[in-house]
Amino acid sequence: MNILDIIARKKEGKKISMVTCYDYTSALIVAKTNMDIILVGDSLGMTMQGYKNTVPCTIDMMAMYTHAVVKGAPEKFILGDLPFLTMRKGLESAMNAVEKLIHAGANAVKFEGVVDEDLVRHVVNSGVPVMGHIGMTPQFFYQLGGFKVQGKDGASAEKILQDAIALEKAGCFGIVLECMPIGLAQKITEMLDIPTIGIGAGPHTDGQVLIWQDLLGMNPDFKPKFVKTYFNAFDPIHNALIAYDKEVKEGIFPEVQYAYK
Ligand code: KIV
Repeated sequence: MNILDIIARKKEGKKISMVTCYDYTSALIVAKTNMDIILVGDSLGMTMQGYKNTVPCTIDMMAMYTHAVVKGAPEKFILGDLPFLTMRKGLESAMNAVEKLIHAGANAVKFEGVVDEDLVRHVVNSGVPVMGHIGMTPQFFYQLGGFKVQGKDGASAEKILQDAIALEKAGCFGIVLECMPIGLAQKITEMLDIPTIGIGAGPHTDGQVLIWQDLLGMNPDFKPKFVKTYFNAFDPIHNALIAYDKEVKEGIFPEVQYAYK
């Protein structure tokens, strides 16, 4: 899979699948699927690091996780996420951040919101495919007043639509549309030549992305409306840990077959 294949999918009317992944062992599993794109998203600030939002993520953190995922799924198309402020401190700083993710093994980078068209174009013209991300952009947590569906009124929907056009014009090869009304995501998807990847944006986008921990049901206390849980990983893992703890304390584990003679 490369960006030409991804763009072609839209023309062929075929959907694109994307999942987040943050570590080597999980990447080994994704590597054995037909998943089109792995996103090493800055959602790892929350899912792997326990922060309440993605703002504390740094580029070194992102590069470290990206490198681990690349080792587990070297044949997959891996999208590295540019964290908070990395595209907003000038060209050199942005290029240093992009370089770190590409050197960590990412095939492309994603950034949130809209920045100067020339900056995006410079990254693209430097040989790095760029994906945009609009709608509910978690790095704007403080500005948006939390995680809230965006584009619900005419003016904000129009702003998101114009942002999508600007990102396509700047050279993005795709755009993530996060948490927005179905109709708006459909309109953007129909208007653009590049694919849209939705999360909480309904069924009419060109592809979908879900977060690893959400789709695998790893945190029963967190279940936004848009998340479909394909597995309830919490219970079997929890039960296995309880069983192991009990067997250690009761002197059952390790049985003879687990010991060296
Ligand atoms: O960081 C992330 O996982 C993301 C997805 C929510 C699209 O940006």
